[in-house]
Formats: sequence, C-alpha cells, structure tokens
Amino acid sequence: MKLEIKDLHVEIDGKEIEQGINLVINDGEFHVIMGPNGSGKTTLAKVVMGYPSLRVTKGDILVDGQSIRELSADKRARLGLFLQFQNPVEIEGVGFVNFLRAAKESMTDTTIDIKQFMGEIRSYTEKLAITNGIIGRSLNQGFSGGEKKKGEVLQMAILKPKLAMLDEPDSGLDIDAVKVVAQNIQEIAQKDKMALLVITHYSRILSYMNPQFVHIMADGRIVAEGGRELVMKLEKDGYDSFVKPKK
Ligand SMILES: Nc1ncnc2c1ncn2[C@@H]1O[C@H](COP(=O)(O)OP(=O)(O)O)[C@@H](O)[C@H]1O
Ligand SMILES: [Mg+2]
Repeated sequence: MKLEIKDLHVEIDGKEIEQGINLVINDGEFHVIMGPNGSGKTTLAKVVMGYPSLRVTKGDILVDGQSIRELSADKRARLGLFLQFQNPVEIEGVGFVNFLRAAKESMTDTTIDIKQFMGEIRSYTEKLAITNGIIGRSLNQGFSGGEKKKGEVLQMAILKPKLAMLDEPDSGLDIDAVKVVAQNIQEIAQKDKMALLVITHYSRILSYMNPQFVHIMADGRIVAEGGRELVMKLEKDGYDSFVKPKK
C-alpha cells in the first residue's frame, strides 16, 4: 500500500488545524511523526482514518493512487489502515476476544476458528507480557493505561493492517512496558510487512525502534524531515529550534 497525503488542510470549528501536510508512506516503510502538544499529530492520524467529525477543506489523501476522502472509516480499515488511539475507548459488554474476532471476520470476510484464534492471541499476550484477565474482560473496561496500549498492539498483530498508525503508544506506560511495546510494534510490523507510522511526543520510545523517516510537526505543518539524526537534534535543541518564528 502507498499512502499519499497531499497538501492536506483540516478545519475544526473554523480553525485550521492542518495547514498543508504532505507525506508519502510506501509499502513497509517506518515513519515517525514528532511534535509538541497541539501541533496536529492526532488530528492528522484521525483524518487519515476517516474520523467523521473532521472536515478536509483542501488537499487529498490517496491509497494506491485512489482518493479515500469520501470513504468511511470502516472502508478505510478494509483497505488496510489501522489507528491506535492515544486514549482507547472503553466499550461495555463487548468482550475483548469477541471484538477482535468480529473485527477480523468483517475485515477479511472469513469465519474464524475460535480455537486457532485463541492460540494466536495467546502467542502475543505472552510476548507483550499482558497479564491475565484482560482477555476475558469487556473491551478496555478497567484496563490500566498500559493494558489498553498493549491491547491495541495485540489488535494490530491480529488484524494485520497494511499501514498501522500508532498514536503515542508510549503514553501511560512505565519504563519496562515502553520497551516491550516498542519492540513488539516493530517486530510485528516487520513480520507481517506492515508500514508503520508512530506518533510520539517524547523520543524515549525511539531508543527501542529504528524508524527510517522522521517528520517534525509544528502548528499543523511539517517543519523538518530526515532520518534518526533529527531525533538527536531534537533531544539537544528542543522543539523550539524547529519552529520558525512567527512574523
Ligand atoms: N475536537 C476538537 N475541537 C476543537 N479543537 C480541537 C479538537 N481536536 C483537536 N483540536 C485542536 O487542534 C489542535 C491540534 O490537536 P491535536 O491534533 O490533538 O494535536 P497533538 O496530537 O499534536 O497534540 C489543538 O490546538 C487542539 O486544541
Ligand atoms: Mg495527540
């Protein structure tokens, strides 16, 4: 899959949140977006996923050359897009495993053998050090911050999207969990040849990952692009050094 974001402008309540974003993610590539709070990172991921409340005022989003601007989030998921939310929602009465199975069945138009499915889930819960309990519970109900994040990495592993977007997968995690989550995200993506877009505020998670492309966002624009060296520069000089002084 090739994702192309072309001169994308997004407005919320008359305020321009995205001010002309250009970004291309090819098959299997690993991109990172970094930026200060409020720079528009989450909004960008949501608009790519097709969040209904967001209005694209200019520009386009293409998957393999076709515009997806008019497609529902559900159709975008079927194309292979996946977004892990910064704050995953809790859904009462929907068991975690049933949710995953239904999502996978609907995406692939197949019927899944539950025994085999449980086996696959278990192989990941062990790797992710997901403690007992969450598998049997309703989706995200009473999950700790870390359990929610790990649960979403598990979803990514099971659903096998072509492009997985993860919004601050490190937020709310303790130091050990950051390492486990980061390493698993990268491993799962590599194993199933997924492209990755990891959004992060802090560079800490990147000490356990090897992104090929780093984009720095500020005020709804991409203000710098490069490789890992940008992360070092950011550590040294902070976000301010990337933000052009306003005229
Ligand atoms: N639903 C909303 N209503 C009003 N303003 C919003 C909404 N969502 C985001 N914003 C604003 O858009 C800007 C970008 O937010 P966001 O994309 O969440 O940034 P980031 O993820 O980089 O912290 C912020 O100024 C935020 O207040
Ligand atoms: Mg955000």
